[in-house]
This record gives sequence, structure tokens and C-alpha cells, in this order.
Amino acid sequence: MSASATAKAHANLAFIKYWGKADPSLNLPLNGSISMNLSAASTITSVSFDESLPSDQVYIHRGPAPESLGQLVLPLDDSLEQTAGAFAQRVTKHLDRLRSLAHTRMRARIVTANSFPAGAGIASSASGLAALTLAAAAALKLSLSERELTVLARRGSGSACRSIPAGFVEWYAAVRSEDSYAAQLAPPEHWPIVDLAVIVSHASKKVASSEGHELAATSPFWKTRQLELPDKLKAMRRAILECDFTSFGQILESEALAMHAIALTSAYSADNSWYSGIYYWLPETLELLLAVQEWRAAGLPVYFTLDAGPTVHLLCPAEYADTLGDAVHSLASSVEGRRWELLRNMPGPGASLVDR
Ligand code: DP6
Repeated sequence: MSASATAKAHANLAFIKYWGKADPSLNLPLNGSISMNLSAASTITSVSFDESLPSDQVYIHRGPAPESLGQLVLPLDDSLEQTAGAFAQRVTKHLDRLRSLAHTRMRARIVTANSFPAGAGIASSASGLAALTLAAAAALKLSLSERELTVLARRGSGSACRSIPAGFVEWYAAVRSEDSYAAQLAPPEHWPIVDLAVIVSHASKKVASSEGHELAATSPFWKTRQLELPDKLKAMRRAILECDFTSFGQILESEALAMHAIALTSAYSADNSWYSGIYYWLPETLELLLAVQEWRAAGLPVYFTLDAGPTVHLLCPAEYADTLGDAVHSLASSVEGRRWELLRNMPGPGASLVDR
């Protein structure tokens, strides 16, 4: 017996960050968060459960993303690389949750492809685990509501729950697992804003975000942020619903710096060495953050945010995206031989099944 399904999900960018876990085994967050799905950053994942398989087999597609994984021929396609590392273990652990709900022990063949380059500073875990959750649930004929799917995706990677609904999404912090779910705040077409992701480096980061989550509460500033968050979440919700770009941008930017202030003052040590904090930035990151201040002072409506890495996300109303792109290119070319890659996103759709 066999059962397959393919799903597509988009990465998301947090405007109010998930930073710190109340329960790491369940990915219960210490605070609520708000995000937007990214239209140009998606993952397609195909899951085929098969009684004849002795173990799960995870394949990653390298190279330009296919429109649909149905075009890939398993397992002979040269673009497919079987992986057995940490990612494959994470996939198996997540499929175990779905197998247990479906009362089956069937193993699966999983093929996954990202539309965006690895190490671009856009987490593939959110889109990847959201697509995996939906594809596996469909293949196993589990009848789950969108809310239940978000709870399940959250178990795989916290931020993945926000990639299930479409557009602008809020994830609620809660004590019970079933109450910590994500729901749509507004659909993608509600507000035409652009996220211009500026990829300044492809090097993989030294400190994983899971480590950052673990250490967040060691920062002396963590309590202050916790106290401010309910008001910040409320103000961000309002700014999105009312399409108030100035308020949105000011909360966005100060929230990004609050998260990084926590990371920079977290008690971090590695390889028997003491560090004063977790540094996710590179010199180019700061150069861009300073340029944003100047562009804004000169009249360009642009604000930044950053996740746990050096990629800078620039947010602006859609009609300013070309001007902003030109400004970034001219800053990039101010140093000879330097090249920054840009990825332009609009508010993106939610996770969906793909016909093969
Ligand atoms: C900085 O969702 O990647 O991007 O739950 O351990 O998989 P795990 O963490 P993850 O953390 C994302 C952190 C962040 C902020 C955010 O997306 O809200």
C-alpha cells in the first residue's frame, strides 16, 4: 500500500519576533509573534508513504526550483541528493508525530525543493516544515483543521506554524500546546508592501537560532522586552489592519533591535571560550541599517528588520520598491567587487496542496 501528496509553503518574515521558548520540546514560545509570508521564497515537498520502505528516505533537490516536484523522477534524477544528516532526522521525527496520529508505521520517501538559495538568510525550516506537515497529513488522509495543522507544524519548527495561513499571520503564545496556534490577521492582498531581502553573505551562521532561543532569557533585557510585548503586538496588529506604514515601520525596526539587543547580551560560550554575546551581524549589515536611516531622512519610506543572521530585510510600500532597489545597488557597488543579491517579496499565500 502507498499514499502520496505534494504541498507548497512559503517562508515567512517575523515583524514581531519569536525569540525564546517556554517549552523547547513542544516549541511553545515565550511570546506571541506576527509575520508576513514571503511570495518569492517557497518550498515544495512531496511525501510518499510506502509499506515496502524499511526507513524514511529524504531527498533534497539542488539547482533551480522545479515548478512542481511531479517533474522530478525518483530516485534517478541527478538533481536529487539523498540526505541523512540533521535535516533528515528532523523530518523523521516530525513524520513520527503524523504517523502516530494516523496509527501507521509506514515509512516515507520525501523529496523537497526550495525556490531560494540555502544560506540566504531566509529560514527554510518554516516553509519546509509547513509543506511537510500539509503533504504528510494529506497523504495519510488525516482530517485536520487549519488551526490543528498550525499546531502540528509548530512542533516541527516554531515559525513553521505561521507559514500555514496566508498573508499576515499571528502566532499566539499559550500554556497548552493546542492553544498555541497561528491564524490569519489579514489576507495577502490586504496591503501591497514589499520586503526586499538583501543577502550580504551566503556563509552559514555560527550560532543556530535554536541556541539563541535557549539563551534569550539569560539577557538582562529580556524581562523588559517581555513587559513591552503585549503593547507592541497590539500596536503592530493595528498598524497592519489600518495599513499605517509609519507606525508599522517604527515598531518593526525597534522590535528587530530589541531582539538583537537580547542576542547581543545573552550568556553565550562555545568551544570553551567566553563570548560577550551572540553577534548575528556582519559589517555590511550595519552599513545597510545606517543607510536606511539616511534614505528615510531623505524621504524614502523604508524600515528594516533582521532575523538571526546578517540578511537585512527592507520593507517599503510597493510603489517605492524600484527606487529602494536602485539605492541598495548603488550602496553595494560603492565597494569594488562587492555583490549583494536581492530577493523581492510581496505578502505571500498560505500552504496549499499541489497537483502532481
Ligand atoms: C529569529 O522557528 O527557526 O526567525 O522553533 O527552533 O525551529 P525553532 O526556531 P525557528 O526560530 C525563528 C527565529 C526568528 C524569529 C521569528 O521567525 O519569529
